[in-house]
Amino acid sequence: MKQFFKGAEADFYSQLERVTTSVLPIKSVHDKWDIQLKAGVTYETLGSDLSGLHFLQLLVRLGQCKHVLEVGTYIGVSTLFLAEAVGEDGRVVTVEVGEEFANIARENFRRNGLLDRIELIHSDVNLSLTSLRQRAQLFDMIFLDGDKASYGRLLRPLLDLLRPGRMMLIDDIFCNGDTLNPEPETDKGQGVRDMLAQIATLPQHVRVILPYGNGQLLLLKPT
Ligand SMILES: C[S@@+](CC[C@H](N)C(=O)[O-])C[C@H]1O[C@@H](n2cnc3c(N)ncnc32)[C@H](O)[C@@H]1O
Repeated sequence: MKQFFKGAEADFYSQLERVTTSVLPIKSVHDKWDIQLKAGVTYETLGSDLSGLHFLQLLVRLGQCKHVLEVGTYIGVSTLFLAEAVGEDGRVVTVEVGEEFANIARENFRRNGLLDRIELIHSDVNLSLTSLRQRAQLFDMIFLDGDKASYGRLLRPLLDLLRPGRMMLIDDIFCNGDTLNPEPETDKGQGVRDMLAQIATLPQHVRVILPYGNGQLLLLKPT
């Protein structure tokens, strides 16, 4: 990818970002949504990048998904993108452990008129799996974007919540470079590696790692 790049090595990723975002309809999440932030923290600190947010919408619309599960709400911006894409008759269930984040997210859903399409579960996702499994309906899509240290433990139970023939999108696969180390240095890096090792042995699930942002993995559950 760098063969014909004439800029300084250090500028490569910023130029890549400039080109990848140039096709998007917005330059910032604030162009589209009225967002309350956590005091002193920008959206970008924990939120998905713009390309990732648009990719989410593309997947939801392509799959005509009506019932979506998100793990890791943060302040609710990715949830807003999902809720817009599922349409008026769709529903997004989102799980967030942080009380302050959950409260800000609810306010953001209200401000943007999408409260009625979103169910926010304020809980540790590991503690919500049983009640999610007891629901009658499986999900058309799952976006896993929280608790990387638990990714290895979460994979199987989340796949059980997904309808056959449907996709799970897993964010932060590179874990800021830790996944690339011979031995991960953080619990998060280890959690991602545990999950990748399990995915590598799945016999029938189609999967691919998309090497943009902090790395995303797309996994298709067989029918
Ligand atoms: C990367 S942020 C999510 C970003 C959000 N999806 C977006 O793109 O705007 C990860 C979130 O997961 C939450 N989280 C971490 N561990 C969790 C757990 N065990 N259960 C539920 N949420 C968790 C964190 O509090 C944080 O808000």
